[in-house]
Amino acid sequence: MSTENRTKCVVLGVTGGIAVYKACEILRLLQKRGIDVFVVMTKNATRFVSPLTFETLSGHPVAVDTFERPATWEVEHIALAKRADLFLIAPATANIMAKLANGIADDMLSTTALATRAPVMIAPAMNTGMWDNPATQQNLRTLEARGVQIIAPATGHLACGDSGAGKLEAVETIAERAVQALERRQDMRGLRVMVTAGPTREALDPVRYLSNRSSGKMGYAIAQAARERGAQVTLLTGPVAIPAPQGVEIVPFTTTMELLECAKARADGQDVIIQAAAPADYRAREIAAQKIKKQGGAGLTLELVENPDVAATLGERKRSGQTFVGFAAETQDAIAHAEDKLVRKNLDLIVANDVTRPGAGFDVDTNIVTMITRSAQMQLPLLSKADVAERILDQILALREQRRGD
Ligand code: CTP
Repeated sequence: MSTENRTKCVVLGVTGGIAVYKACEILRLLQKRGIDVFVVMTKNATRFVSPLTFETLSGHPVAVDTFERPATWEVEHIALAKRADLFLIAPATANIMAKLANGIADDMLSTTALATRAPVMIAPAMNTGMWDNPATQQNLRTLEARGVQIIAPATGHLACGDSGAGKLEAVETIAERAVQALERRQDMRGLRVMVTAGPTREALDPVRYLSNRSSGKMGYAIAQAARERGAQVTLLTGPVAIPAPQGVEIVPFTTTMELLECAKARADGQDVIIQAAAPADYRAREIAAQKIKKQGGAGLTLELVENPDVAATLGERKRSGQTFVGFAAETQDAIAHAEDKLVRKNLDLIVANDVTRPGAGFDVDTNIVTMITRSAQMQLPLLSKADVAERILDQILALREQRRGD
């Protein structure tokens, strides 16, 4: 039976807080989308709403305690953990976040959450002070970095009388995010992916630098798409003005030399490396200690030295089983130059674009690219960078599949 056609299953974890009653509504909204929902409650949650309510709504027994006699002869928490296509905790208290972040399994919900291999999504709801507490914020970052999808709380009037962040996000939004996550292919689960993005800056003096027009948008779109498809993503980023995608490890760099160091240190542990960054090919031979002054009408000559080629350096150390992808931003003969770079940098795939074409290249949300492998060329139409990202990831998976079959 195709896994795509069977009824999807959400395990809904409900933790104690005044917003528990809203979980009933989330359950109903998910059911309306044809999703089978199983509920796991913490003891505290049952003080707000009786398990009987969730049992009646879901049509399944509600799991509360690990020591209860299971309804079936399977070990119940493991059975639920396996059945889940998505593990959604809503509302999620500061306490469950702390437990998840630390791998604590001391009741039915935390035990099931630790055992599941399904994507985990949490919708926190708590008092503003608890949300703002550095401990909660650190737990949040830990969970995010591990790929837990966070539905951030809204700001508003809270049940405790305070106003601020901590209000459970609208139930419709939570249900929609859950549906989207279920519809997403998880075909990159288990893969470690490193993406480089953005420009470098090469200082000339304390106030000036050499850089380029890379916006980082293409690399960021790839990092986000890979994350959503289940990969564990590290994003090496130059200075850009766009928000970082959720759930990826961010490693900032400024110069090409810094990028090289960051990339070399992490390359070995990766399955896939996608280099969308635009590292400057040259840097100043010497960075002036003081601001360079006007030369009284005479011209100014800067002496530049060549930077190392990051992609070529990584390419020399490529292990079997790794898939390396580069970009070639060209202004003429894009395909011929790209083919040359594919071989020279020991890449498996290169994405070529002619940055002079309208709708392609820097600072726009679209791109027109040709994907080139050692054996094929695929010209894509004008697409959003998000769609280009998906096509590149599809191609990477196809290459890896093909190699496994060889
Ligand atoms: N690249 C790199 N290190 C550099 C320059 C480029 O790793 N110093 C990488 C880019 O991240 C990209 C690919 O190489 O994936 C092609 O970048 P591009 O600027 O098109 O290539 P160059 O080798 O710099 O070629 P040229 O400037 O001669 O076109």
